[in-house]
Amino acid sequence: MSVTQQQVLESLSRVRSPHGVALTEADVLSAITVNDGKVFFSINVDAQEARAWESVRVQAESVVRAIPGVTSAMIALTAERKAGSAPPPRPATGGVKPAAAHRPPQSPQGSPMSRQAEIPGVAAVIAVASGKGGVGKSTTALNLALGLRDLGLKVGLLDADIYGPSIPRLTGIREKPELNSDRKMIPIERFGLSVMSIGFLVEEDTAMIWRGPMVMSAITQMLRDVVWGTLDVLVVDMPPGTGDAQLTLAQNVPLKGAIIISTPQDLSLIDARRGLAMFKKVNVPVLGIVENMSYFQCPHCGTRSDIFGHGGARHEAERLGVPFLGEVPLHMAIRATSDAGHPVVVSEPDGPHAAIYRAIAAKVRDQLRGVVAAA
Ligand SMILES: Nc1ncnc2c1ncn2[C@@H]1O[C@H](COP(=O)(O)OP(=O)(O)O)[C@@H](O)[C@H]1O
Ligand SMILES: [Mg+2]
Repeated sequence: MSVTQQQVLESLSRVRSPHGVALTEADVLSAITVNDGKVFFSINVDAQEARAWESVRVQAESVVRAIPGVTSAMIALTAERKAGSAPPPRPATGGVKPAAAHRPPQSPQGSPMSRQAEIPGVAAVIAVASGKGGVGKSTTALNLALGLRDLGLKVGLLDADIYGPSIPRLTGIREKPELNSDRKMIPIERFGLSVMSIGFLVEEDTAMIWRGPMVMSAITQMLRDVVWGTLDVLVVDMPPGTGDAQLTLAQNVPLKGAIIISTPQDLSLIDARRGLAMFKKVNVPVLGIVENMSYFQCPHCGTRSDIFGHGGARHEAERLGVPFLGEVPLHMAIRATSDAGHPVVVSEPDGPHAAIYRAIAAKVRDQLRGVVAAA
């Protein structure tokens, strides 16, 4: 039996907003995605009222889950200050108390954007970030995760790039995650990694139109409503860029460190500098910079050409006092294996590129010593 948007709306009309009107009349719902029994949407409210809405989110989730045929419901509460409207004053003790039992305890300020509790069982969450898209962030995140796996660590990979989730393609994963008895999502096991991607739940084009605040809330749920089990490292493939969404995400996710991917071109380096500044702002240590597409290695003759003017990232890392983690060449084998769902560390484990990613992984592990027991 396939679930329709109309069924979802009918169920939601029974849930009341904190102001007493039906949720469907409250002008807070995003478009509703129904995909193969999986329902996803967001409730967009004023930041001032976010706490009062948390229990509404929980109720909405339970009525949607009760619809026959629904296998999972992910409902994101996104708090946003509405432009041009002065927020109504609210008494400090008023409103509805947040009721989500699975939520970590909130900070005294209680803002839903300030949840930063550790993820039980996960020793270190690290972000892989870039100032802009297309620099090879996802390719690096996946091969780095595999490199860490090769060092004997238990590794998870979370594709949080809501603007263009590419981990399903890079890993060749086509199945959808199942739910356990607590209705938490079970990550998909591939190449010895526990993998979760926002792309498992929605189609790529749907993801493209999501707005910033919704991104953050969805990612918080992807972190917390997934059975990660015991992990040494959870690698997060971040959305590219350094805008508000990325900043809040960096704030929201309990990060032990961040890795910045840059190409040698100047422009990309300027973006990388913005990335450094962003993590500094939220007190997340930058574990280092990786220079991707660092030089071109001819697949036929092996000759190396520095087509982008190689070495910029190393120089920049030195200047900024940030570790330089390594250089990955622009090579046909990396592109072809990535795009075919067989990352190079898996498909050519004894090749030169796998060795480069493992060396980068070893540097990352060394920096996590003391945090990760197995490191
Ligand atoms: N070192 C590399 N050599 C060759 N191709 C690469 C390399 N790194 C990434 N690519 C290719 O570049 C494209 C963009 O990489 P991707 O990892 O998806 O970037 P991002 O996540 O930053 O948008 C993909 O087609 C990928 O296969
Ligand atoms: Mg990507």
